[in-house]
Amino acid sequence: MSSADDLKRKAAEAAMDYVRGIPILGVGTGSTVNHFIDFLADIKADIEGAVSSSECSTERLKKLGIPVLDLNAVGDIEIYVDGADEINPRLQLIKGGGGALTREKIIAAASRKFVCIADEGKYVDVLGRFPLPVEVIPMARSYVARQMVKLGGQPEWREGFITDNGNEILDVHNLEIMQPIEMEQTINNIPGVVTVGIFALRPADVVLLGTSEGVKTITL
Ligand code: A5P
Repeated sequence: MSSADDLKRKAAEAAMDYVRGIPILGVGTGSTVNHFIDFLADIKADIEGAVSSSECSTERLKKLGIPVLDLNAVGDIEIYVDGADEINPRLQLIKGGGGALTREKIIAAASRKFVCIADEGKYVDVLGRFPLPVEVIPMARSYVARQMVKLGGQPEWREGFITDNGNEILDVHNLEIMQPIEMEQTINNIPGVVTVGIFALRPADVVLLGTSEGVKTITL
């Protein structure tokens, strides 16, 4: 039996087929992406630079000698590679377990192709078992939490955690997200919400799922 970490590494390795020959990459955040960054070492001479979704990935990329570029300076990105906390059959995602959801959503929006890498444990029928991360402006935390209760969720403050953008995170439990696009729009519209971790308006284009039988490629 492969461990979840082995499956993450296999999915990350499979993503290499998508990025060879691409000079500027979008790079996400998390333990699966950390494997992907390690694999990038093999082709770093061909990479002009990467747009990074977190301080943590930035540090790892820089350690390898891969230049980290400002999104404002590069325009649209060819390929974005990132992990997910949950993936449904429509390739809609929950992201933000690592707290990097806002920059991740920006880079996903600015990318032509979003390749999502994950272990099979992330694949679900309905999003919502994983507590939904919502990045909030600190002064709005309690207000937004009350709105989450009205939507049927149970918000929990990720206490002591500050995002790379200086904001806070609510992890919302017990949501069964039957209509991800509508839920994404509804939560995005609450004053004080910076970003909700539902990626449905801009889902992944390809999911590379590490399974014990090998890496499955899922597209719509
Ligand atoms: C980071 O904020 C998240 O969106 C990650 O992409 C997600 O949590 C997946 O993380 P792992 O690769 O560590 O499972």
